[in-house]
Amino acid sequence: MCGIIGYLGGREATPILMESLKRLEYRGYDSAGVAVLELPKAGEATRTSVTKSEAKVDTLIEKLEANMPSGRLGIGHTRWATHGKPTYINAHPHTDCHGKIFVVHNGIIENFAELKAELQAAGHEFPSDTDTEVVPHLIEANYKGDFLAAVRAALKRIRGAYALAMFSSDDPELLVGARLNAPLVVGLGDEEYYIASDITAIIPYTKRVLVLGEGEVAAITPLGAEVSTLDGVTVKPKIVHVDWDVAQAQKGGFPHFMLKEIHETPEAVANASRGRLSDDGVVSFREFDIPDEQLRGIKDVLLLGMGTSLHAAMIGEYVIEDWAGIPARAEDASEFRYRRPTVGDKTLDVVITQSGETADTLVALQQAKARGALTVAVTNVIASSAARDADGAIYLHAGPEIGVASTKTLLAHMVSLYLLALRIASVNGRVSLERRQELVEALRVLPDQVRGILARDKEIAKLADKYSRYRNFMYAGRGLGYPVALEGALKLKEISYAHAEGTSGGELKHGPIALLDDQFPVVAICTASSTKDKMVSNVHEIVARNAPVFALVTEGDRSLDGVATDLFVMPQVEDAMSAILNTVMLQLFAYHVAVKLGQNVDQPRNLAKSVTVE
Ligand code: F6R
Repeated sequence: MCGIIGYLGGREATPILMESLKRLEYRGYDSAGVAVLELPKAGEATRTSVTKSEAKVDTLIEKLEANMPSGRLGIGHTRWATHGKPTYINAHPHTDCHGKIFVVHNGIIENFAELKAELQAAGHEFPSDTDTEVVPHLIEANYKGDFLAAVRAALKRIRGAYALAMFSSDDPELLVGARLNAPLVVGLGDEEYYIASDITAIIPYTKRVLVLGEGEVAAITPLGAEVSTLDGVTVKPKIVHVDWDVAQAQKGGFPHFMLKEIHETPEAVANASRGRLSDDGVVSFREFDIPDEQLRGIKDVLLLGMGTSLHAAMIGEYVIEDWAGIPARAEDASEFRYRRPTVGDKTLDVVITQSGETADTLVALQQAKARGALTVAVTNVIASSAARDADGAIYLHAGPEIGVASTKTLLAHMVSLYLLALRIASVNGRVSLERRQELVEALRVLPDQVRGILARDKEIAKLADKYSRYRNFMYAGRGLGYPVALEGALKLKEISYAHAEGTSGGELKHGPIALLDDQFPVVAICTASSTKDKMVSNVHEIVARNAPVFALVTEGDRSLDGVATDLFVMPQVEDAMSAILNTVMLQLFAYHVAVKLGQNVDQPRNLAKSVTVE
């Protein structure tokens, strides 16, 4: 998830690009760059000045302040690496063979490898490892004197997600923006125009925003912005007036980063499988391409993580065992590192870490590797320690998570683990084509189903309002619902400071039930699954102890009507997807309880985003 900005107008572009990139930095910050079409001096040809930094935006700004390009047209980028390490060469903008076409990009180009091979065969050279670099070369290959036509022809070839800002030094009065499955807005100022990933970047300059639709291209000249489809059909632009102030815009209009990040889940779950899953359910992880033969030799899977990532590991344990039929176990990395576990060269060690920097997880990874395990890090941060230390990495592509409590990255972890389970199951011949296609379809509709839960925010806030008066909570579930219950409890305690514990439904009457009374509510995960009836029995036992129960149930299931104190009805979905929807619901519930109690949800006390000490 990168930040992009473009400017065309009567003012100096560079200071505007610098300020805007600073405001976009929350989207990504591992490297940055700008390209400015310089005003030609008398008798000289037009030239584009490119400035890049392999560090944060501040370093780029220092460079620009020391040597400020002067021009009225420019583009800028702050990067969250997806393909290729955060290096100078990989920093955007990228250009074509002749240094005429400049492009900044947010998104993932799924078919970049085949396009790159085709362009290389035609003589194009690619200095970077990025997927983005195919865009300027593809435009160059299609250029016959009309830049806009070349852009359209190039974009027709691209699959995946893109938000782009582009210009060519042959057209000094044309700035082009385009989007597909990635956000992009066009700001309309007073005889000046902006392109940006979101309105955060441009809100100090204009509040009139043209919202670009999927697969649309904006051609911006000093005369205005024209929108068209890739086929060149003119589209009537949709212009809105935004009344946010700068602070609101930073959080995309949400009061907290945590809420904003929960609302980014649809994009995060889509990105986790983007380009990795064929229509027939064949999984390929570009960054972690274990040959089938080697994967077939794997006899057990060890999943390591801490906190929320440990809960993701537990979910991975269930699905790998269930789908792939090989032993899988999730372990608390801080315990694993002090044991003498049975790990060998037939073990696949999957290290789950959003930040890629959790100290205990890194040590556990090194120990598993030292014992001969094949190691893979599933992480959100490119070139993080875990990604570097492991034999391979699977990246979440969820964009930066700023709220201390993990939210969208957990859901992206879950999708990644589903894909890994499917990959192992496929090489072991454990999953039919029909089942694979079912899962492909389930993942395809998942982002919309998550949106369905997010749209019920008010309903969830009302429930949270009612339950926020309690100081103790029990969360109970079975199967995938068990780690979901543990996570629900963790989220609530870490941001609201209410006491919350998670348990399996079966364990309840072996001790925890002693705590229950009319002041100790239970959140029961009772959505459809093979153990749903057992959970329903548990709820009856809980109700008999006078504890209030708020249960998540599947639509059409009436077994807890009149039994549970409150019901939250979830859609009928595949078990693995239900775990995702239930988690999103419980994240929102915890969020609203914490807000009701006036807590600092983005920076809860005593916690840090990345726990780099033991
Ligand atoms: C909870 C939370 C933590 C992290 C844990 C591991 O909301 O954020 O429990 O999940 O510290 O962090 P990573 O995934 O970065 O290894």
